[in-house]
Amino acid sequence: MADRSQHLVGLLLGAEEDWPQAFEALLRRVGPVTDDTGVTHDFVSERLTIEPFDLADPVRTDLVIDRLAYWYYHPREWLKKAALMDGTYLLNSPFTFQSMEKHSAYCAMMRLGLKIPRTVLVPYKNPVDNVRWAYTAAKYNKPFDLDAIADDLGYPMYMKPFDGGGWRGVSRINNRDDLHQAYDESGEMLMHLQATVEYEKFARALSIGAETMVMDFRPDEPMHNRYAVSHDFLSPSAGHQSVAISRIVNAFFGWEFNSCEMLVEGDSVHPIDYANACPDVAITSLHYYFPWAISALVKWSAFSLATGRRTKVDLHTERYFAIADDDSLDYDAKLDGYLALANEYFETERYHEWCAQNLPHFTDQVVEWAAGPDCDRILTETVRATYPAHEQEKFLAHFRGLIGLWVADQKH
Ligand SMILES: Nc1ncnc2c1ncn2[C@@H]1O[C@H](COP(=O)(O)OP(=O)(O)O)[C@@H](O)[C@H]1O
Ligand SMILES: [Mg+2]
Repeated sequence: MADRSQHLVGLLLGAEEDWPQAFEALLRRVGPVTDDTGVTHDFVSERLTIEPFDLADPVRTDLVIDRLAYWYYHPREWLKKAALMDGTYLLNSPFTFQSMEKHSAYCAMMRLGLKIPRTVLVPYKNPVDNVRWAYTAAKYNKPFDLDAIADDLGYPMYMKPFDGGGWRGVSRINNRDDLHQAYDESGEMLMHLQATVEYEKFARALSIGAETMVMDFRPDEPMHNRYAVSHDFLSPSAGHQSVAISRIVNAFFGWEFNSCEMLVEGDSVHPIDYANACPDVAITSLHYYFPWAISALVKWSAFSLATGRRTKVDLHTERYFAIADDDSLDYDAKLDGYLALANEYFETERYHEWCAQNLPHFTDQVVEWAAGPDCDRILTETVRATYPAHEQEKFLAHFRGLIGLWVADQKH
């Protein structure tokens, strides 16, 4: 009998219903895949539940898409056990997301010479909750002049938590009054002060494995309108840099399902936020890009499982730093060097070849699904759960139009 390999994808979920149902529907359409070694792969998924576990219990799940561990620590510790003991493949690994928050990511990307706005970390406003604090602070906390730091950075600037996420505690600081008010309110949060980038375009890149979609994001719009459908909103150079930077950040840290925010002025791309362990993939915010996102998740999961891709908990920073330290290379050449490492990490070429060879009809199936009743049901249920009754018809029509536009664009 020919070799047969069954792969189990586990979904670790919080309150979302839309994308998991889409993922389950599309994964079912990935029929058995027989690769060129003659092995036939079957893919199934299940939703993970939270229960006591013995650290020595074997884990059946081969790959986990995690949307919960960033705030729920019991399953986070289960993920670590599964990665270390059972080789479970993780999107994403809590090892790097816990230890490499926004601040570490800024440092690493500055080390690579990327254009991170100037950033200063100031000590806590409020005493740290520890009996040793008073003594330690009296003896070692050096007094500092917040106004002098701000004057040096220049107004306006941003004050935001060092480990940021979801706009929590972010403020734009226009003057000294704002500065002191925001710092006083920061309380127990540890804050960055960051120079403002006067950007023309806000590029938000969603990366899933070897695929990246750079989207025209408008942070001031209401949720349903933040992602504009515009294909050439960046210059070719800024577009190339945005894809490259997103992929480099992800490969550097081993992040496989992440969003990266970049502020773009002309051809200058400034990354400001790129450690989002649980990027937004709601159908009511991604709309047009939703079928792409879910099909990329399905394909990356299938590829990783069928090719036996190994989960990694270590980083190989020295290869990147060798390029950073090579004075014969300018910014563009360094970016290309990092991108080559990132493509190696993600096996980008092999991934695309594997999909073309083993999932030749999948793109058509995604289009058919996105145009059909199942996707429409998910959209309808999500809109009902998200918007008040009197707005539901309007939003349903809005999102149906955008998903319909994606379907039509795929047929060209
Ligand atoms: N240096 C900056 N220059 C201009 N705008 C900024 C800067 N930093 C943050 N912002 C604005 O504040 C928002 C939130 O900051 P961000 O770093 O993305 O925090 P979060 O992790 O909470 O999303 C950004 O989406 C952007 O609109
Ligand atoms: Mg952000």
